[in-house]
Amino acid sequence: MDTVTNQSIFEELVSIVGAKNAFLQDEDKYKYSHDHTEDYSFMPDVVLKPSTAKEISAIMKKCNEHLIPVTPRGGGTGLSGGALPTKKGVVISMEKFNKILSIDELNLQATVEPGVITEVFQNAVKEKGLFYPPDPSSKGTCFLGGNLAENAGGPKAVKYGVTRDYVLNMEVVLPNGEIIWTAANVLKNSTGYNLTQLMCGSEGTLGIITKIVFKLRPYPKKDVTLLAPFTSNEEACRAIAAIFKAGVAPSGMEFMERDAIVKTQAYIQNEMGETVSVDLPEHVKAHLLIELDGNDEEVMMNEAEVILNVLEEFDTGGEVLFADTQAQKDELWKLRRNVSPAVNAYSLTKAEDVVVPRGNLPALIVFIKNVGEKYGFNSVCYGHAGDGNLHINIMKENLSDNYWNNEVNEGIGEIFEEVVRLGGTLSGEHGIGIAKRPYMQMAMGDVKLDLMRGIKNVFDPNNILNPEKIF
Ligand code: LAC
Ligand code: ZN
Repeated sequence: MDTVTNQSIFEELVSIVGAKNAFLQDEDKYKYSHDHTEDYSFMPDVVLKPSTAKEISAIMKKCNEHLIPVTPRGGGTGLSGGALPTKKGVVISMEKFNKILSIDELNLQATVEPGVITEVFQNAVKEKGLFYPPDPSSKGTCFLGGNLAENAGGPKAVKYGVTRDYVLNMEVVLPNGEIIWTAANVLKNSTGYNLTQLMCGSEGTLGIITKIVFKLRPYPKKDVTLLAPFTSNEEACRAIAAIFKAGVAPSGMEFMERDAIVKTQAYIQNEMGETVSVDLPEHVKAHLLIELDGNDEEVMMNEAEVILNVLEEFDTGGEVLFADTQAQKDELWKLRRNVSPAVNAYSLTKAEDVVVPRGNLPALIVFIKNVGEKYGFNSVCYGHAGDGNLHINIMKENLSDNYWNNEVNEGIGEIFEEVVRLGGTLSGEHGIGIAKRPYMQMAMGDVKLDLMRGIKNVFDPNNILNPEKIF
């Protein structure tokens, strides 16, 4: 298409949302050209900020007619590049869809727009004694729509499940501009294929979510937070499966290797001027941050006792810390939630998000460190170990660009192969986007990839909606 035609189409697109909700200049578009994935950056032709499903429908119709790529975008906190406009075209920013439409206390449901910040939603339902458990570390800035698109998780997933477990129904604008509701606002539904779940984790490739109906739970009244030290990463990982085997169901089971704590303490000190003190004698190499929640103090204390008994069989090298006050709990969770920003502030990183059956974590952590030694890269490992979900932040530090883009990727390929061999897969919660796409064939095989491509083709035969993502 020639530039003049393009120009007039962009003008028509701008007129759908109004000039003040459209950006064409680089300095205004820059913020929409990157997310939290490595140093990736792609400048779109235009950024549009619609406020209704009808406006999005009009945009999609026009773009479908003229084969213009469209990339939907939430809070921009993605870690796999899912919201990056790799083929330029239009970025649709969902920031104006920021309303909580209703909280239905009778049915324990809420209807929201996708641009609501996750923590804002959590706090709004908590005021009514209700609980929306999915809590990605970026909850203070990420959007619910992005959480759905990537099927985000977070520490509470180990007991309460991930974003997809809380969605009952959603309004979606399809690539051809049609607007549908995927299901009904009901807790059970055996009515044909599950379009709601197909949308979850589809990374904005099948439709643009414009309303979401979530189910909620009663808010648990009490919680206990423990920090358990270990003399090795492997020992910490071995303890995890043993704790579950003993019959307790923690609401958090997070692993942090020593360097995750050291780097995050330094980051919190530098960025916020705050100190998080954790006892770190030389022989302590890893920690588990464990949370129990519920309504009955005695039950929780019994569960904590069970955990302490299990830990006696392991090489902890020190005392388990019980967080006494809310302030101490908040401090420990602040430490955990800031690992990713801390490591990213220290060095450019490739953030992996692998997941294996939790009993296989000890083998995986040993393998990862061996690959690091073989290829000469350092990594910081941490994450939702109760789910078998490990974040591996590989740091560039002083490696050359060439080595970073070739040999390091080879090492990552070896890690992914081992993950698959251990019965696991590429991503537990960050999605595939563009960052993990080269490894999809290895993880999924041709038959499943062809099925996925077929589904994409039914929804979006012209491949205009978030092209080049997933596969
Ligand atoms: C976390 C994000 C990076 O767990 O998923 O901190
Ligand atoms: Zn995570």
